[in-house]
Amino acid sequence: MKINRNDDCWCGSGKKYKKCHMSFDEKYEEMKRQGHMMLPRTVVKNEEQIKGIKESAKINTEVLDLISEKIHEGMSTEEINTLVHEYTVSKGAIPAPLNYGGFPKSLCTSINEEVCHGIPDSKIKLKSGDIINTDVSTILNGYFSDASRMFMIGEVSEEAKRLVEVSRECLIKGIEAVKPWGFFGDIGAAVQEHAEKNGFSVVRDFGGHGLGIQFHEDPFVAHVGEKGTGPVIMPGMVFTIEPMINQGGYEVFVDADNDWTAITEDYSLSAQWEHTLLVTEDGIEILTY
Ligand code: MF3
Ligand code: CO
Repeated sequence: MKINRNDDCWCGSGKKYKKCHMSFDEKYEEMKRQGHMMLPRTVVKNEEQIKGIKESAKINTEVLDLISEKIHEGMSTEEINTLVHEYTVSKGAIPAPLNYGGFPKSLCTSINEEVCHGIPDSKIKLKSGDIINTDVSTILNGYFSDASRMFMIGEVSEEAKRLVEVSRECLIKGIEAVKPWGFFGDIGAAVQEHAEKNGFSVVRDFGGHGLGIQFHEDPFVAHVGEKGTGPVIMPGMVFTIEPMINQGGYEVFVDADNDWTAITEDYSLSAQWEHTLLVTEDGIEILTY
């Protein structure tokens, strides 16, 4: 059914179509005619949803800041979990990992050769030389946000330090590759180039993801790829970039003891940083800063 200039926009903003997504639709149809891969318009968030996701992301960042402030040698990952859980619920929010697909804790803590989805445990204590990813995800009023940071505990080897720094640069390169009406392959290409140039590898089995109304939405955001390929990045999309970078090979396996924790196949170190982004008409906003 054709929508008229003066009708209400399909996004639910309550604005007239011509003042809202009319030019979006012209661009969408043009790129579709050119043969590009177009995701359904349902991946585009409206203003109200974006506002909700931003409020969720604000708490998510506060949680990560709290971890940054409190993390120390000798601390158990269970203690990090308690910090995250208590702060999140004190803000009227819910830790998204808790009970997600049966995940038992309120954040993921992945140390050294653990790639992602490490489970906090009172028996796991941070020791000098460890590198740890803390992956925090928040639900506020039904809206999701997701980000992670690395921490280096005590005296860390030069090689581990370099991995942590390069993985952070990979996230930044990935973010800089995001352009409205660009391609998801641009992100993967930028991350992969930087990681491999530094002698590291990029995990294939996990990626970033759309989010906002659910924890994991379309599309899957690969951290490897080729420029100018893949689905088109559209204004109004919210998704994560969260490259997992390995010191050795990119292969991983899931720990059979808990069915969650991904570990490098060769037990080399792995590092990851993550942000949630919003694509705007002329660029991006990092929502989890
Ligand atoms: N936070 C992870 C991500 O970045 C997802 C973790 S799923 C969980 O997508 F259940 F392990 F929490
Ligand atoms: Co994520």
